[in-house]
Amino acid sequence: MKTKYTVAGLGMLLAGIALAVAAAETVGEATPATHKTHQLSANAYARRLVNQGRKIFRFDTLGSEGFFSDALRLHEALNEVPPATALAVGLKVDSQALPGSLRRAIRNGTLDLEDPANTVALLSLDAVVGVSAEVEEGVVTRVGITCALCHTLVDDSVVSGVGKRLDGWANRDLDVGTIISLAPNLDPLADLLGVDVNTVREVLASWGPGRFDAHLNLDGRAFQPDGSTAAVLIPPAFGLAGVNLTTYTGWGSVAYWNAFVGNLEMNGSGTLFDPRLDDAQKFPIAAANDFGHRSSEPDLITAKLPALQMYQLALAAPPAPRHLYDRKSAARGEALFAGKADCARCHVPPLYTEPGWALHTPEEIGIDDFQASRSPDERYRTTPLAGLWTHTQGGFYHDGRFETLEQVIDHYDMTFGLDLQESEKLDLAEFLRSL
Ligand code: HEC
Ligand code: HEC
Repeated sequence: MKTKYTVAGLGMLLAGIALAVAAAETVGEATPATHKTHQLSANAYARRLVNQGRKIFRFDTLGSEGFFSDALRLHEALNEVPPATALAVGLKVDSQALPGSLRRAIRNGTLDLEDPANTVALLSLDAVVGVSAEVEEGVVTRVGITCALCHTLVDDSVVSGVGKRLDGWANRDLDVGTIISLAPNLDPLADLLGVDVNTVREVLASWGPGRFDAHLNLDGRAFQPDGSTAAVLIPPAFGLAGVNLTTYTGWGSVAYWNAFVGNLEMNGSGTLFDPRLDDAQKFPIAAANDFGHRSSEPDLITAKLPALQMYQLALAAPPAPRHLYDRKSAARGEALFAGKADCARCHVPPLYTEPGWALHTPEEIGIDDFQASRSPDERYRTTPLAGLWTHTQGGFYHDGRFETLEQVIDHYDMTFGLDLQESEKLDLAEFLRSL
């Protein structure tokens, strides 16, 4: 036995030398050997992280079953939901997870979309984007959610709502509030917020499609002063390489926000340190519950942060299809963006946000401070605009207050006294559609 191992070991050693020699040849002779090895391992490391990160982003619940299943019992509701309802609340189906026969049945309209058993079948194939379920003998017994629930669309290549995954795209069809309110037990949410279950239901119903409120469980403020929902539009999770601060109000980096979301929004099991959440004035609920000092066992989040971050940074913003905009008009708009309209002062190409600390006071951009006041720095982050064409549904700015790009431009025209002509506004909007 002993000799056998030695021989195998020798074989591997020789193979290793052969590999090193081959690598040295491809990189060129001027580079010192140590540099080459380092270069290669960086590529291999990056590839490994991106692959792991994709799996985590798509399928990892980070232990969120503890909240959604054990506490809210959402899995019970899933056993009753027909596929038609699931699609109607914006859930998406990954066609690549389906056997060909099922894909064809959906395309031909022969799959019974009113039969809840078919929802369970889709869940057991891991085909419902962002919903990770344990299914035993045709019954969902436990369920958790993943990042993909809110940050993935499908290309609708089979039918509307069923197709190949588009990771990082904002799901503006998804009605998170309605989905959560399907859960039989909303007491844990009511207890946390210090309200009754009916109030929780009212709040969840007020969100509407494409929105979620990541601050509600920190401060309990569910409505803006004018009575409209405090929930914000789900943003994309792509195009963030080079971007320092994430979220509409710049809470922190991708790595920061992933830890925050995993622990406090998905209610996974992990560790979070953020003493800013001890501010009982601003974050009464977070402070009372020690949210800034989370450490749950087992920690199912911390070890996944490197890969999860790398994967998001690797997701480029998708370029706008040519047919969506007029090239000449967009080219004129680009000149205005950098010139007369002065947009590039903040939306610096090609990041389309400022390199550095991209935060502005509400006054600087001419809007109210409601959402800013719910964040540590009380400012709004300059939104990176690349891939804007993928999330026009639901409106623009954090709360969708502007229905169209033309309205956004009018707002800047007034706030900054830009004196833009109507044709210039059209060109500028065309440029925004081309990003
Ligand atoms: C229930 C829906 C939902 C889930 C699940 C979710 N997010 Fe988000 N995500 C949001 C919303 C809403 C925001 C905007 C928050 C804000 O600015 O107040 C956001 C913001 C972000 C941002 C910042 C984007 C930007 O432009 O700065 C990133 C990055 C992100 N999420 C990644 C993730 C990752 C990674 C996961 C899984 C660990 C995840 N999200 C899970 C809804 C969700
Ligand atoms: C002073 C800095 C600043 C300038 C100048 C500026 N923006 Fe913005 N922009 C912001 C900030 C901050 C936000 C985020 C506002 C929010 O979400 O409430 C934003 C958001 C946007 C959005 C919404 C993106 C989305 O996903 O909802 C668009 C579109 C936009 N800006 C286009 C422009 C155009 C066009 C100009 C020039 C006419 C311009 N901006 C000038 C800072 C700026």
